[in-house]
Amino acid sequence: MKIKEIYETMSYGPAPESDEAAHQFIKDHKGKFNLFINGAWVTPSSGEYFDSINPCTKKKLAKISEANEADVNKAVNAAKKALPEWIKIGSHQRARYLYALARQIQKHSRLFAVLESLDNGKPIRETRDIDIPIVARHFYHHAGWAQLRDTELKDYKEVGVIGQIIPWNFPLMMLSWKIAPAIAMGNTIVLKPAESTSLTALLFAEICKQIGLPKGVVNIITGHGKTGATLVDHKDVNKIAFTGSTEVGKIIRRATAGSGKKLSLELGGKSPFIVFEDADLDSVVEGVVDAIWFNQGQVCCAGSRLLVQEGIADKLYKKIRARMETLRIGNALDKSIDIGAIVSQEQLKTIKDLVKLGVKEGSTLWQPSWSCPTDGYFHPPTLFTDVAPSSTIAQEEIFGPVLVAMSFRTHKEAVKLANNTRYGLACSIWTENINLALDIAPQIKAGTAWINCTNVFDAAAGFGGYRESGFGREGGREGLMEYLKPRINDAFTNQPPKIVVNNTSGSNGQAQQDSEIDRTTKMYIGGKQARPDGGYSMVINGANGNYIGEVSKGNRKDIRNAVEAAHSCSKWTHRTGHARAQVLYYLAENLAIRKEEFANRIVQMTNQKKKDALLEVELSIERIYTYAALADKYDGRVHHTIHNNVTLAMPESMGVMGIICPDESPLLGFISTVIPAITMGNNVIVVPSEKLPFSATDFYQILETSDVPGSTVNIITGEKDELAKVLAKHDDVDSIWYFGDKNGCKEMELLSADNMKQTWVNYGKYRNWLDKEQGEGKIFLKKASQIKNIWIPYGA
Ligand code: NAI
Ligand code: MG
Repeated sequence: MKIKEIYETMSYGPAPESDEAAHQFIKDHKGKFNLFINGAWVTPSSGEYFDSINPCTKKKLAKISEANEADVNKAVNAAKKALPEWIKIGSHQRARYLYALARQIQKHSRLFAVLESLDNGKPIRETRDIDIPIVARHFYHHAGWAQLRDTELKDYKEVGVIGQIIPWNFPLMMLSWKIAPAIAMGNTIVLKPAESTSLTALLFAEICKQIGLPKGVVNIITGHGKTGATLVDHKDVNKIAFTGSTEVGKIIRRATAGSGKKLSLELGGKSPFIVFEDADLDSVVEGVVDAIWFNQGQVCCAGSRLLVQEGIADKLYKKIRARMETLRIGNALDKSIDIGAIVSQEQLKTIKDLVKLGVKEGSTLWQPSWSCPTDGYFHPPTLFTDVAPSSTIAQEEIFGPVLVAMSFRTHKEAVKLANNTRYGLACSIWTENINLALDIAPQIKAGTAWINCTNVFDAAAGFGGYRESGFGREGGREGLMEYLKPRINDAFTNQPPKIVVNNTSGSNGQAQQDSEIDRTTKMYIGGKQARPDGGYSMVINGANGNYIGEVSKGNRKDIRNAVEAAHSCSKWTHRTGHARAQVLYYLAENLAIRKEEFANRIVQMTNQKKKDALLEVELSIERIYTYAALADKYDGRVHHTIHNNVTLAMPESMGVMGIICPDESPLLGFISTVIPAITMGNNVIVVPSEKLPFSATDFYQILETSDVPGSTVNIITGEKDELAKVLAKHDDVDSIWYFGDKNGCKEMELLSADNMKQTWVNYGKYRNWLDKEQGEGKIFLKKASQIKNIWIPYGA
């Protein structure tokens, strides 16, 4: 036998990692884990336990408590009680605790890695080299943020008691992404791990005890979906942070609607992995392995759709098949395997069913020639070619080691295919041409774009989705915002601020004679004044009940037309900040010219003193100046992430936004919401104040005489809540702002869940729009944009 032949035929022997220490940890708890509440192990009120198994062997590992409502109450109460003291000890003390957690995780990293592999079935190579180091990194990074909280983020305060619900694919990593920022910012938490993978969270609880973390700051309760739902519904929970399926994400959005609970959702994905013909194909093959066979493909941002430029498709498929043949599958604790077990029998069944469906729908299946071990829940790496973009396996998240491949001809087609999904978590772009990569990255609707790399994460960069992949970010400064709220929110009132009404009626009579307002105002769609579809109008009375004019009564069809118009206009979105600023200054200038006229209109509608109305116009002009000023300054960041990358955090527009204006301050309420939204490049559909609409309808003339593209601002007058509902339900609206009463706010959050549009509502609390601190600022720009993190190789 030649040496070459020996190398080629030699099989690997097993290289098992010892599981002794992990089993000892389980033994120390007598094989049965209680709940970690208020710094102690507490038996569950239900008295019920369920089994956690090792998916590589199907053998039982330990018994886990099923927390019921009484247990959830106990845990939330403990967190609530711990909150004041945790706030009081201050930034530096909290930083020391986070640092201690990081150190302790590092010290016990091998135990954590083994326990994770046992419980989840993922290769020890991954838990040891990827999961646990990222966990430690998160606690270190956030120890830093805890230290800097009072200086860097002094306009913000903690949210309070946080309920956190995590999935089973990266059990401890997801725990760290949730807990580290939450407690660093001064919140206390109750966390529920996934039912199939609770063990590392319970070991983490021990670590909290060891470092003497104050009781009640971290509480870990175990159980199934019902336990999670009880936590979501608890009245004393101020925020829910969830990672898991889009289906459950929508349930949680609806369950929390109108409650005022802050919410972040990191949901599913069907991320494109785009390969252009000039890509380095050998790197691509290794990228594909990381994209879809890392963690058995049970990764929310898995590159599960391979999009290849036609000319190189067959060549690449051949290389991928050859590489698949060499992948090794087996027991997670074997140090030389690449692929472990699927987390559970149910998940394995879901994957198998979808694979069967793929074959049935006509795609070509390829799997390596070797067979999987049968003692655990294994699934072979799988490649589908000849996949139709509309087929189930191209659209549904499979959450397993299954790659579906499609080809494209042009760059434009690549973008179209990539965006042909309801999700928007990540994408990965492979080309040796930097111009091409950076041309494609902004065009993909996804929260993360990896250029010539994939599935890389770091605590310094935000991670999270667009569209039905959820909202909110985890990691970095962006992620901190999920655990903070602006201090200024405390100044909001339960009643709208009182407008001082001038009771001498003179001005109304005067205005009514004005020929301009004798006619019914039209709506404004696609840059043109439009008659209402229904042909109805609404009478608007002034503050004294006197008739002042009529506006068109918009309906569902008018909203649809406006949404369509808004989508047709990409010009505005692609303008630079400087170019948008120019247009905004021009708007302000035109408004200044007509200051008297706008002030008279406010007097006519509200019966305020003229000097107050003039002040409102003056403030509106000033507000436009603020956003014109910020248009080229509210920019992104460059995160210095730990790999050989820099990560550009780019704010992007939401797309098409629906804005339901406040009823207070007819002009300023309109300006304060619409201007920041268009500053960030959005196209908007605006529903002006129902009672005081004329400041908005008068504004058509300002829009027409400035350089705002026709379809950027669309205005539909009519019944506020009826129009708002149509907008909230509309699948082509990406985000909605609603300023109104509590019920309306709840409706918005409920109805927006279908396509997971992002909402910003005031929960029946009122801002004083005249007050600069409440009525303007970067928070408006933040809510009008979403961050895309673009990872670029740097110094590699
Ligand atoms: P899941 O979304 O049901 O579970 C995630 C977590 O939510 C678990 O802790 C679970 O106990 C909890 N939960 C379930 N129902 C709940 C409810 N009504 N209220 C509050 N909490 C609830 O995910 P599952 O069933 O384990 O997996 C199903 C599919 O979801 C997978 O096949 C995959 O497609 C997707 N998934 C996506 C993940 C991601 O990271 N984006 C993670 C896990 C699953
Ligand atoms: Mg398990």
